[in-house]
Amino acid sequence: MSRTTVIAIDGPAGTGKSTVARGLATSLGARYLDTGAMYRIVTLSVLRRGVDVGDPAAIAAAVGDVDLAVGHDPGEDRSYLAGEDVSAEIRGDAVTKAVSAVSAVPEVRSRLVALQRALADGPGRVVVEGRDIGTVVLPDADVKIFLTASAEERARRRNDQNVAAGLPDDYAAVLADVQRRDHLDSTRAVSPLCAADDAVVVDTSDMTQDEVIGHLTELVEQKAGATR
Ligand code: DC
Repeated sequence: MSRTTVIAIDGPAGTGKSTVARGLATSLGARYLDTGAMYRIVTLSVLRRGVDVGDPAAIAAAVGDVDLAVGHDPGEDRSYLAGEDVSAEIRGDAVTKAVSAVSAVPEVRSRLVALQRALADGPGRVVVEGRDIGTVVLPDADVKIFLTASAEERARRRNDQNVAAGLPDDYAAVLADVQRRDHLDSTRAVSPLCAADDAVVVDTSDMTQDEVIGHLTELVEQKAGATR
């Protein structure tokens, strides 16, 4: 049986990571795994059960029996909690606010990392997107990409999205939040956000998403050619 070719894509929010990872998987004809969605499903389950998100022990106790599933098709964003399609709900404000606290709980991470390794396994190519894929989840990935963009550019993109969604136009507040989250993400005890030593770092500040997808597709094809 042919072995899996794993492409790991990590980086902070606001780099266009999700769109780029889906676009890359589509262009490569690969499966796609959105690990952020898995943290979001666990968070939704925790919230629905009324568990206090400020209580890591209670979250740890709850994570064991969360029945979650995610789709593999890059063209379709599908997430399930106990068989219910929760794809839209996990992108809502309540989950987005609570997910950092839930994803910092070591028991949550260890359960989801094990599941992510199992889901990534299989024939053909898979694009796995997250924060710690190249460093912790799949350190033997064939291609590791770390997307970055300046804090100012990420804040500008997020503020534009907010405005498009009818939220207030407040670049300064968004920038302060981006900087605060960067600090939390890169200094947390478990799986801090950082590029793997062997990752290709791509700064997307001055690139369109199509340019990034084209660049990454070339990188993956070059790598495949080099190891063939
Ligand atoms: O990429 P996203 O915004 O959907 O991720 C949701 C949250 O999950 C975010 O706070 C970071 C966290 N996350 C993580 O800690 N590790 C991953 N591999 C993926 C996401």
